[in-house]
Amino acid sequence: MIQITFLSNDNKVVTAPPNSNLLRVSLREKGGIPFKCGGGLCGTCKCRIEQGLEHTDTVKPKEHKHLSAEELAAGYRMACQTFVNGDIGVSWKVVETVSR
Ligand code: FES
Repeated sequence: MIQITFLSNDNKVVTAPPNSNLLRVSLREKGGIPFKCGGGLCGTCKCRIEQGLEHTDTVKPKEHKHLSAEELAAGYRMACQTFVNGDIGVSWKVVETVSR
């Protein structure tokens, strides 16, 4: 099993089988990565692999539409397009909900 740490969700740690899709693990384990389409179109699931980038698979063509070369070099990925094959730590932009 591999370990995924959801850094933007109080460092929540979950385990998953190797070659798991990052967004699917997040959904199953309530990791909290934001998403809309699940299919590589909307870009909502943009996240940053802060630890273990070498344990993620090749960047998909769909990701190049939403992420610049600089972002990719900095470890940004789209969770629904990313498969994980080792321990990683992932963060994302947390949108504050404003109560009126
Ligand atoms: S959830 Fe829409 S691109 Fe990943």
